[in-house]
Amino acid sequence: MAVKRVCLAYSGGLDTSVILHWLIERYGCEVVAYTADVGQEEELAGLPEKARASGAIDCVIRDLREEFVRDFVFLALRGAAVYEGSYLLGTALARPLIAFHQAKVARETGCDAVAHGATGKGNDQVRFELAFRALAPELAVIAPWREWDLRSRTDCIAYCEKYGIPVTATLKKPYSIDRNLMHVSFEGGILEDPWREPDEDMFILTQSAEAAPDEPTQIVIGFRRGTPSSIDGEDLSPAALLTRLNALAGAHGVGRVDMVENRFVGLKSRGVYETPGGTVLHLAHRAMESITMDRDVMHERDRLAPRLAELIYNGFWYSPEMDVMRAAIDASQGNVTGDVRVKLYKGCAVVTGRRSPCSLYDPELATSEDMGSDALYDPRDATGFIRLQGLRLRKP
Ligand code: ARG
Repeated sequence: MAVKRVCLAYSGGLDTSVILHWLIERYGCEVVAYTADVGQEEELAGLPEKARASGAIDCVIRDLREEFVRDFVFLALRGAAVYEGSYLLGTALARPLIAFHQAKVARETGCDAVAHGATGKGNDQVRFELAFRALAPELAVIAPWREWDLRSRTDCIAYCEKYGIPVTATLKKPYSIDRNLMHVSFEGGILEDPWREPDEDMFILTQSAEAAPDEPTQIVIGFRRGTPSSIDGEDLSPAALLTRLNALAGAHGVGRVDMVENRFVGLKSRGVYETPGGTVLHLAHRAMESITMDRDVMHERDRLAPRLAELIYNGFWYSPEMDVMRAAIDASQGNVTGDVRVKLYKGCAVVTGRRSPCSLYDPELATSEDMGSDALYDPRDATGFIRLQGLRLRKP
């Protein structure tokens, strides 16, 4: 394959520093480094200098934090997307966005190829490359981890020493981390034993339940058409809202998940996640729906939810079936407006109240105080309703 200029998804860490140099060596091409800020909280200052020192002709940084939460995290929330009952999809949601802007940068800077540092056994390679196929099929894709003969971190460090590539020697964690505004994910290394409990000092966003404060915190989350818009009455931008919620819920130990999941590529993998704000939002959003959503609309959406999670997990964000899904989900959320109160305490988030200007909950209808009949609900109608429902259940 002949390529002239490659746009590389670059973090400045060990792997992508090696990749940058390797691309130039292997393909004799130019490299444009591209870094997306999705809230990973890594140092971005000095990154362009570092990329150039490693041989890049340019370094482009994009702040995608608001777009990430607004268009990706909040869509998954409205669709109640949870993979295999537990994973809130923090990594899976960021990949298509990162790829979208990478393809854009590649075009803007005259690249004929894109490259990424995802390994050959994971989901992320699939997510990046399916997005590239959908958005920029003319670009060649280079996945060095599937191509070169470097096999480990030790190989990468040796490569850097050989070619004098500047790497800030960070102490190697015994597992791999992926962080963004939605979550931190841990997998690999010592976590590959699914029986081994994670060390407490691994966690970044959450306290342990044991160390969490003895006093609970109550918060009120406001929703507009299924989208979170305020905390305790204060309107916040999507990224600001999630950041605030991560701090509040994380301090109370809310949002840890430890699971073994099925990767799209066909293997099982142990993952540990911290999703404090996202956990509270999913809980509160469902409570908001409980008083604002028609029963059967809710049940239809709930049938779509696991399928939506699967599309996101498997990397089909940019696909025709996803467009259908998006339309259905947004159509279900028109009435999901109001407030939900949540109590945070010792690793738990519990809903303690919900209210809405467009509530479908009718206290008059629901009351158990008055068992008499009215025009809308006459308990005597229940006699026939149950009799017909029970017809076919009678034993012969
Ligand atoms: N298993 C998760 C997923 O496929 C996270 C993958 C990346 N995490 C990591 N620690 N490298 O979405």
